[in-house]
Amino acid sequence: MKVGTRIKYVVMATAVVTFLSRKPSTAFVQQSRASVATVSKGSTFLRESDNDNNNNNNNNNNQNEAERLRAQAEALREQIRKMEKDLPQDRRRPQPPAESTTASRPKPPTSLLDNRRVLVVGANGRLGSKVCRYLLRQHPELKEVIACVHVVGENSDTSRGYGRLSYEVGAEEGIGSIGPAWSSSDERTASFEFNVETMTDYNLQKLRVVECELLDPLQCNSIVEDSQADVVVWCATDFNGNRPRAVSGLNIAFLFRAVTDPTKGRVEVEGLQNMLGAIKNVRQDALRRDRLFGNNVDDSGSAVSTTTASSAVATKPVDVLLVSIAPDALEDFETPFGTFLDQKRQGEEMIPNDFPSLSFTTLQFARYEDNFVGEDIELNFETVDKKSNPDESNSRSKNVRRINRRDAARAVGKALTSPELQGKIVQVWTDELK
Ligand SMILES: NC(=O)c1ccc[n+]([C@@H]2O[C@H](COP(=O)([O-])OP(=O)(O)OC[C@H]3O[C@@H](n4cnc5c(N)ncnc54)[C@H](OP(=O)(O)O)[C@@H]3O)[C@@H](O)[C@H]2O)c1
Repeated sequence: MKVGTRIKYVVMATAVVTFLSRKPSTAFVQQSRASVATVSKGSTFLRESDNDNNNNNNNNNNQNEAERLRAQAEALREQIRKMEKDLPQDRRRPQPPAESTTASRPKPPTSLLDNRRVLVVGANGRLGSKVCRYLLRQHPELKEVIACVHVVGENSDTSRGYGRLSYEVGAEEGIGSIGPAWSSSDERTASFEFNVETMTDYNLQKLRVVECELLDPLQCNSIVEDSQADVVVWCATDFNGNRPRAVSGLNIAFLFRAVTDPTKGRVEVEGLQNMLGAIKNVRQDALRRDRLFGNNVDDSGSAVSTTTASSAVATKPVDVLLVSIAPDALEDFETPFGTFLDQKRQGEEMIPNDFPSLSFTTLQFARYEDNFVGEDIELNFETVDKKSNPDESNSRSKNVRRINRRDAARAVGKALTSPELQGKIVQVWTDELK
């Protein structure tokens, strides 16, 4: 053995002795014991031991990785929470509903009109204004009554404002002040302040007034769209009784319109058609939107389901309640555009024939008599059997039937909340002449 080699062994032996004489740490003891065992038990054990170490290392690595991912996920969640806080309210993720308590549970619906918007067309008319009054006072469950009034042009002969409506709904019963005619123009005004004592039950906060020319399809469309009405109650007419207003009132403006612009059409036919077309368009748009955004709707959309399935009990009001006249309430009258009754029947038939997707109830009222027929009398509803021979149904004279307009307004409210009247033409009266 060379001298250099011997010195090397001595150095190594000294190093081993020094190493073994040190007080070992626990980890070191375990490690060294494993090494001893390794030597004594041979190579197989050596491999197992190696595996254990590897497994331990792998486990440690996996745990570290899992910790890291968990921390990363939590950081991302925190980031999302911060971003959501900065979003505008309507774009936030819907939160799961809070645990329902008796107080927060929605109230059961009180009627088909619960939380609905009703658009009354012809709302400044003699019947329309009373319908608005009745709905506001007797159906506070409604969300809104939208009174659609006719204003052709300011300061024109055809502009009637909505004085009758404001009177009927009680808007003028507030604490009022009227400036004397001889005072300065600033003081020559009338104002009515809300009177809590008398006006609270009038529910005027639920009344919205909109203006519309029914012979203009674009106006009809925007009124139906903007108002978001669930139901349209049609009380408009261009007749005073059975005579065109242009004739009965010798109204120059109406006569002028009839002569110069006959294509404008008739309120009972073209006007109604414009309104029905608008309702249909708006319903279809809503249906398309619902489909696009995956809301749960059936093929029939919101409207059809109420009437076409006659066996099913309707859970929502009709799309249209059409106010019309019983065939024998008034005599027929010839006009350049067809007879009075012919125009009324055309309007009635238009809904089922041309707009089958819209649900409806048509009320054929008896002749109105506001002075000699009492109010609050029992309402009679008689469904018209379309299959029966019209001559037969007319053979019993019905021209003795009458109804007060206030009761007619009550009948409108009753029909809107009666699912059994949906899809039907119904004659309505309260009294008969002796
Ligand atoms: N008379 C009867 O004995 C009798 C019986 C049964 C049923 N009915 C029917 O009951 C319904 C209501 O009758 P009513 O006596 O209340 O009629 P009304 O007082 O003459 O009311 C009709 C309303 O329709 C509005 N109107 C007319 N043309 C319009 C247009 N182009 N655009 C927008 N609005 C328009 C009128 O507004 P402006 O006045 O501001 O123009 C008026 O407010 C009618 O369908 C009628 O045929 C009548």
